[in-house]
Parts: sequence; C-alpha cells; structure tokens
Amino acid sequence: MDSPTVTQRDQLMVEMKVAEIYHLFASLPHHAQTLMLELQRDNHVEYLTKGLKQLGPNYAVLDANRPWLCYWILHSIALLGDFIDCNLENDAVDFLNRCQDANGGYAGGPAQLPHLATTYAAVNSLITLGGEKALSSINREKMHGFLLRMKDPSGGFRMHDAGEMDVRACYTAISVASVLDILDYDLVQNVGNYILSCQTYEGGIAGEPGSEAHGGYTFCGLATMILINEVERLDLPSLLEWVVFRQGVECGFQGRINKLVDGCYSFWQGGVCALMQRLHSVVVGQLHAKEQRTVENTDSLQTPNSSDAEKVPGASSTDGGGMPITDSVLKLSDIGFSFIKEQIELDPLFQSIALQQYILLCSQVQDGGFRDKPGKQRDHYHTCYCLSGLSVSQHCWSKNVDCSPLPKAIFGPYSNLLERTHPLFNIVLDRYHEAHDFFSGQ
Ligand code: FPP
Ligand code: ZN
Repeated sequence: MDSPTVTQRDQLMVEMKVAEIYHLFASLPHHAQTLMLELQRDNHVEYLTKGLKQLGPNYAVLDANRPWLCYWILHSIALLGDFIDCNLENDAVDFLNRCQDANGGYAGGPAQLPHLATTYAAVNSLITLGGEKALSSINREKMHGFLLRMKDPSGGFRMHDAGEMDVRACYTAISVASVLDILDYDLVQNVGNYILSCQTYEGGIAGEPGSEAHGGYTFCGLATMILINEVERLDLPSLLEWVVFRQGVECGFQGRINKLVDGCYSFWQGGVCALMQRLHSVVVGQLHAKEQRTVENTDSLQTPNSSDAEKVPGASSTDGGGMPITDSVLKLSDIGFSFIKEQIELDPLFQSIALQQYILLCSQVQDGGFRDKPGKQRDHYHTCYCLSGLSVSQHCWSKNVDCSPLPKAIFGPYSNLLERTHPLFNIVLDRYHEAHDFFSGQ
C-alpha cells in the first residue's frame, strides 16, 4: 500500500486523539462523566476578564486587531450570561472610541487606518456592552459615508481604502449597516451579484470568485444574502448539502473539504445550518423548481411555465439588477429583526448533540478558554466561536425565539445552557434588541 499523504496522516492523528478522549469519557462512571462535560463557567470568565485588562507580549502581533479582542472577549462573557464591572466597561467604550476614525469606521487601534473587519468588531462590541454611552458613541452618519467609500463600483466592498474585495467585506459592511439601521439601496446595489459569483460547484461560498468554498465565507455570504433580501438567488439545496457533510467523525465541523476539524467552525458552519433551518420553505421551493425543469427538459410537449421558486411563501423575487421586489415596501434594516421572529418548523439540520460533545470534550480547556482541537493552545478567537457554536447548537431546538431549549437539547448538565445569539449578527439576543430599539428610534 502507498504511504499516506501529509493530509491523510494529519487527519489520522486528529481522529486518534479525539477517539482517545471519547473512549476515556465512555469508560468513566456517570458522576465523573458529568464533571468532564460541565461548562467551566468561572474559569472561562476569569480567563476572559484577565485578557480584557492586560495581555502579554505575545499578543503584539494582534496590535491591528484590538477591537476584535474586545469583541471575542465581551461576546464570550455575554454568552456566558456574565458581566464586566463598570470601570472596565467605561474603559472599553473609551478605547473603542479612540479607534473610531474622524471620517467614520473603526481602525484596529488608535491612529490606525479604518478597516471593515475591525469596524464590525467594534460595533458588535459596543452593542454587547450596551447602554446610552456605548451606543451613542457610534457616529452613524460618518459610518454610512465610510461604508459607501468602501463600496466598489462593481457592487462588492473593499476591506479598507484600496484594499482587497471579498465576501467578508460584504458581510461586515452589510451587517454593520443593518444593525445600525443605516442600510439603504446605495449600499445594497449589486452586492447580491458579487456573492452569487462566489458560490462554487461544491455548493458552499468562497472568499472571492474562483476560490474554494469555505465555512467562514459561506456564513458571511449566506448571512449577507439574507440581510439584503436576495437569499433565494443562491442555490440553497447544494449549499445545504455542502454544509451538512462538513461535520465529520470527530463530531465537530471542518472549514472545507479534506481539511481538519476545528472548534471555530462550530459557529461558522453551525451558524450556516441554523440559518438554513429558517429557509426550509425556500429550499423546498428550489428543489421543486429543479424537478420541474428536469421534467420540462425531458418532455418537449410541455409549455414552459413561470418559475416555482417565485411561489415560495415568504420569498421575494428580484429584478435583473438584484433589486428585491416585494408586495409591501420593505425596510432593509428590518430584515435581520424579522428573520428570527418566525416560528421554526424543522429540527436542527446537523448533529447538534455531537457538536456539543466535540466543543465540551475536545475544545474546552478546563482552566478556562477553548481551542481549535486537542493539542492546540486556547485563544480568545476560538473561545468566542466555540461558545457561539455551543449556543447555536443548544438553541436550534427551540421552535420559537422566546422559548428556552428543552433539556434534551443540552449535552451535559442544564447549567451548561448559554445565552441565545442572533444567528445573522452573532450578538446576544437581548443586547441586539436593545440596540435595535435604540437605533430604530433615532
Ligand atoms: C482558512 O484558514 C481560513 C480562511 C480562509 C478565512 C475564513 C473566514 C472566516 C473565518 C470568516 C471571517 C468572518 C468575519 C466576520 C470577518 P486555514 O487554511 O488556516 O484553515 P482551514 O484549514 O480550516 O481551512
Ligand atoms: Zn479555528
């Protein structure tokens, strides 16, 4: 037999490490299993709060990502249902304000250049902090100007002045505009065409046209299409097929085909599954339309009919330029608000208990924090996205936004239950609602 490739060897090593943990777990008595499954809340909060106060010299490489560190830490603490003290909260608002550019948007640190990714992180951090001081510190008028300046004439967005154009830039721009209630057709124009050009033959969405489908970009692309009311333009059945097969034998998700499992994809891919769960009727409509087209192609006597995708309840249709046509006047910024209000018809589209098992047993570090996989170090990014994925896995069982999940939805003790996150913005729901009321009243 040929010797294994590097990819095959790495995959085997991960599977062995994960299997060792699961065998150990299975061999333990019940009380010891419960201990191993328990979410180490106090240790996580301690690790996170310490990081918000001070970080060691190793973090110098993240100097242009300081609003991201704020978001990863603050959002994680919010998911855990905890709070930071008032002084720290004030310091965080003041710091983020020093990252705000005079012409709108937020930079990676004071006196740096404004960037869309750090703008998204800063806005989500301020909404997570909540309250008058944090929310009113955002200059929405200048923000609109900054977002328009980042828009390329072709429709997509650039990450910064003369920077790269990709799906991440589209998502961060549209998410920020939507949550701040400044989303308009100048910003939306042709964004859908750009995202559509990034959906690959695999079904998932790539960072830019011609690249490989990836979980991070699939989340960004799908969420953007929902927020601009053009989601039915994507091939949703093939997107769904691509994402569900990214959950592997390790129980966690991989980011792309033939790559290793990683805890952060618990949110990027788990989040895609949670969004798709709410798009069931559109998926069914598209499948039905596909079947119709096959019948029409094989039966030359049949007269062509209008597309069945247009008959899907709740789905809008678009004109040639990607402009939504709806029966009533649609306020773009309200889409993110209405999206989570509708009752869910389906059970989760992924193995939610298995994913919780991977997060708690393989990604959780008992001393606090989460990691990509066994053998890796904890970090704030993986802590944020493992907790976000855990929250999505628990709450995707609730049919209604106001209901808590049933105990059967939670792996481990019921005390593992996290706060619910908005699946389009990844902001804890009650903080999102506070911001929605604040900005829509202005
Ligand atoms: C591949 O890294 C990772 C990427 C190409 C970027 C993924 C994009 C995101 C996580 C989304 C960003 C979202 C926002 C909101 C800015 P890799 O090759 O190290 O990982 P892999 O082997 O798992 O693919
Ligand atoms: Zn990762």
